[in-house]
Amino acid sequence: MKRILVTGGAGFIGSNFVQYILEHQKDLVLLVNLDLLTYAGNLENLKAVEGDPRYRFVKGDIRDKSLVEGLFEEYDFDTVVHFAAESHVDRSILEPELFLTTNIVGTQTLLDAAKRHWKLSPDDKYSREYKPGVRYLQVSTDEVYGALGREGMFTETTPLAPNSPYSTSKASADMVVRAYHETYGLPVNITRCSNNYGPYQFPEKLIPLMIHNARTDKPLPVYGDGMQIRDWLHVKDHCAAIAAVLEKGAVGEVYNVGGNNEKANIEIVKLILKELGKPESLITHVKDRPGHDRRYAIDNTKITRELGWRPEYTFEDGIRETIRWYLENETWVERITSGAYQEYYEKMYR
Ligand code: NAD
Ligand code: TYD
Repeated sequence: MKRILVTGGAGFIGSNFVQYILEHQKDLVLLVNLDLLTYAGNLENLKAVEGDPRYRFVKGDIRDKSLVEGLFEEYDFDTVVHFAAESHVDRSILEPELFLTTNIVGTQTLLDAAKRHWKLSPDDKYSREYKPGVRYLQVSTDEVYGALGREGMFTETTPLAPNSPYSTSKASADMVVRAYHETYGLPVNITRCSNNYGPYQFPEKLIPLMIHNARTDKPLPVYGDGMQIRDWLHVKDHCAAIAAVLEKGAVGEVYNVGGNNEKANIEIVKLILKELGKPESLITHVKDRPGHDRRYAIDNTKITRELGWRPEYTFEDGIRETIRWYLENETWVERITSGAYQEYYEKMYR
């Protein structure tokens, strides 16, 4: 991996990944971050790498075919890591169409550009030969497998059974990636990770939202009984897993990524209140999310056995460090809640 296109690099996981790769990938020549800067994209996450000569930012839409083709022509990428997506389940319930176009059509646009640019005989429609070492990695989610009961875990062979417009759009995108591999022989991987937590997560998601509300003594809205279970993984462990797949993953394979760390939402909320020294009376049970998945749990045997990846963070350390990060970066959160972060692009890049 020397010339890499990262999409959605101004979002939560993408911005952690950009920093991770610039720090860890010694032979990296170029990293282009293509991001539309929707409400979820925040270039302030990447202030630390702006001056790195290997880093370029491009504001644009993954659905813009000529832009994407042009970037492949200009930069000759050998690797694509595709994070860009609409990612919030609650928003997908309100705006399913946006999720389907961004997450499915956007993925197909990138796959098509990669296929065209990487194929050794572009005019031969039956050729399955590609430039050596090229790889397209689709960052997917465990939510494509649907919900679990009390028992069992998702493996890579669990049938896809998504329940929300968000997870449906991600599952559909995974199927398009699969089709480009099966039909055209494109060298791809798919990673399906569990819920991430860590720095730079938009404060609409459970952990940063609860930290922010607890800090400002606002009610903490727990959906339904709060007994829904998620399998939490620190975002840096997710970044390391993606790097391991790029380095050692077998072509065409899917890898589940998870930290064996199941927690009920209410446990997390209580832990945040305890760490902040705030009363549990701030907890407010609100109407449940429609179609709310009860439990997710990842079986990470394949990636740990085959690629030697394992999570570095314990949840206890990771969540404390994360809470501290949000408390120490109050201005970052406040610039999001006030909308001021969206002026940063105009100031720096126009
Ligand atoms: P995020 O919402 O924080 O970031 C998404 C980024 O994509 C933003 O910077 C946004 O501006 C950009 N984007 C949106 N539409 C775009 C478009 N049309 N063109 C270009 N850029 C666009 O999301 P995240 O939490 O960082 O998730 C990143 C990826 O990881 C997603 O594909 C998501 O499905 C997947 N994932 C997330 C989690 C999680 O817990 N957050 C877990 C597993 C997988
Ligand atoms: P979220 O962070 O939105 O991630 P996902 O839906 O992709 O798992 O939500 C995590 C869990 O927390 C999920 O079960 C919904 C729940 N939740 C609440 O109870 N209250 C909230 O305000 C939010 C945002 C989420």
